[in-house]
Amino acid sequence: MNIKLATGEEISIAEGENILSALKRHGKYLISSCGGKGTCGKCRVKVLSGKYRTAKAGKISKGDRDKGIVLACQTVPEQEISVELLESSRLVIGDKIALSKSKDLAELFKSLDGKISPIVNKVSVKLPPPSIEDHISDLERLKRELNTKGMTGMRFSHGFVLSMADSMRSSGWDIDLAHVNGAEAIFITDRRDTSRYGLAVDIGTTTIVVYLIDFSDGRLVDVGMTYNSQIRHGDDVITRIIYATERGGLNELRDVVAEDINNLIRTITEKHKIKPGHVESAVVSGNTTMSHIFWGIDPRYIREEPYIPAVNFFPLWKAGTARLNINKQAPVYTLPCVASYVGGDIVSGVLASRMHRSSEIALFMDIGTNGEIAVGNNEWLMTAACSAGPCFEGSGIKHGMRATEGAIEAIKIAPDTFEPSFSVIGNTTPTGICGSGMIDAISEMLLTGVIDQRGKFVRDIKTDRIQEGDEGPEFVFCRGEKDVVLTEVDIENVLRAKAAIYAGISLLIKEVGFTLDSIERIYVAGGFGNYLNVDKAIILGMLPDLPKEKFMFLGNTSIAGAYLCLLSEKLRKEAEDIAHKMTYMELSVSRNFMDEYMSALFLPHTDIGLFPTVEKLLKAR
Ligand code: FES
Repeated sequence: MNIKLATGEEISIAEGENILSALKRHGKYLISSCGGKGTCGKCRVKVLSGKYRTAKAGKISKGDRDKGIVLACQTVPEQEISVELLESSRLVIGDKIALSKSKDLAELFKSLDGKISPIVNKVSVKLPPPSIEDHISDLERLKRELNTKGMTGMRFSHGFVLSMADSMRSSGWDIDLAHVNGAEAIFITDRRDTSRYGLAVDIGTTTIVVYLIDFSDGRLVDVGMTYNSQIRHGDDVITRIIYATERGGLNELRDVVAEDINNLIRTITEKHKIKPGHVESAVVSGNTTMSHIFWGIDPRYIREEPYIPAVNFFPLWKAGTARLNINKQAPVYTLPCVASYVGGDIVSGVLASRMHRSSEIALFMDIGTNGEIAVGNNEWLMTAACSAGPCFEGSGIKHGMRATEGAIEAIKIAPDTFEPSFSVIGNTTPTGICGSGMIDAISEMLLTGVIDQRGKFVRDIKTDRIQEGDEGPEFVFCRGEKDVVLTEVDIENVLRAKAAIYAGISLLIKEVGFTLDSIERIYVAGGFGNYLNVDKAIILGMLPDLPKEKFMFLGNTSIAGAYLCLLSEKLRKEAEDIAHKMTYMELSVSRNFMDEYMSALFLPHTDIGLFPTVEKLLKAR
């Protein structure tokens, strides 16, 4: 059977297969935040003709249903049908995202170490060319010369030996032997060839960032960023684990992430005329699930009680095994993880924040797709994951979107007229609202009395901005071809996410016997951390009501940590110490977490005394 697309193209669909799955098989991707469970309402398509049956139509209004709009993941054709793919449902990934290069990286490295010590070391060896008289094999020849330098007992992998004979001859027997700690030979290069590069990679649930580094001076050659194509199979780590395990998609997830990274590598190396084979080592930083999938390790036990990952400290495996298109023998270092939901990205973050070296008590928070926190100093470190969910990335929000072009990112509401004014990323027509926009919107709505402290619309205010939508009441920020609204259900979702973050912070700090006031510094990391307005996040009750000077934005610390570990052995060792030292607290099993969470579902909190600044603002209102 076939599906006819409005463009005239036809794609095959198997008996009983849903439209989303058929589209995916043909490389056509729709936003499918819930991974096809029928709960996110994002995978809409319009059926133009033909019979079909649809399991769930939740999230689709009666009006839209009458127009033939259905959830692709829930709809199975009963005969040949004709379908239009809606622009608003299309998943756009694979685009390179412009990213500014960090000027502070070199400074950060200098402040932490400053001495470049890559994973790969090189030793120069001048081999006597073989002759009729000196006819031992190439490998024995190499070992003989290494013995004279006192380097014995080195391991030679099959991969090394495969390319060894050619490399020796093409270098005229005057070689550099790349090895790891004198223990394992990696590859051979020509001594005249001094180019040495490394790769730092941040595998986020939503985005992937790659830094290419020149080892001669630690210089950042270039940066690449793209969306993680695994988004095709769901927005959060849980839907990815389900896809990897229950649907047998581990290999596919692994391939798409390697392909994303390889595309970035190709773009950068071509642009700078660097041979990918000259990239001699890599460091990867990601959450525990992303790290498992990257290496093709089944992540199923991360999700099953008692939530035990297969690996926290990853051995030094090869780029070839990771399917990376750099030198196949290049060792790939993976930032160690702490627990199922606190991964190498958080270890990277703590390393880059330097909180593990200071006596001041600091709180580190990474508000990305999930929300992880760490508290401590140079003597101790505690960590937890908040399970905030990806709502600040737009998931589960009617017009939610990631912070890309067209997203409303900052909002003000006039207190007398309730008219909103906003700024849009890329100064274009708004198509949705991103995380920082949601935080602004809800705090502004609270301060202007559009919503009450439970997050419900106040019905008797005089504005036509509040209207009845298909999902209940909503506030219209922008009218046009497509309205951009925030519904009461959206507000509830944001309140749940912010409550999980605040409850996590509050409980973790109580657990270690401190109060919020004793926190001397708060580091905020994550892509989202770049745009966050602290005042508004405090009004929302997501961040604790502490003096603004205590907050410091660090941007993407996962890639910063990967960069530091790529350059320095000392910092790789420190990252491991951090991971060993961190005590993980499983919040989901703590009874107090539920109490903290319920109290934080209010705006800003049921105990307004915890938010004196907000109390004042509300009184002034
Ligand atoms: S509703 Fe279809 S993917 Fe979420």
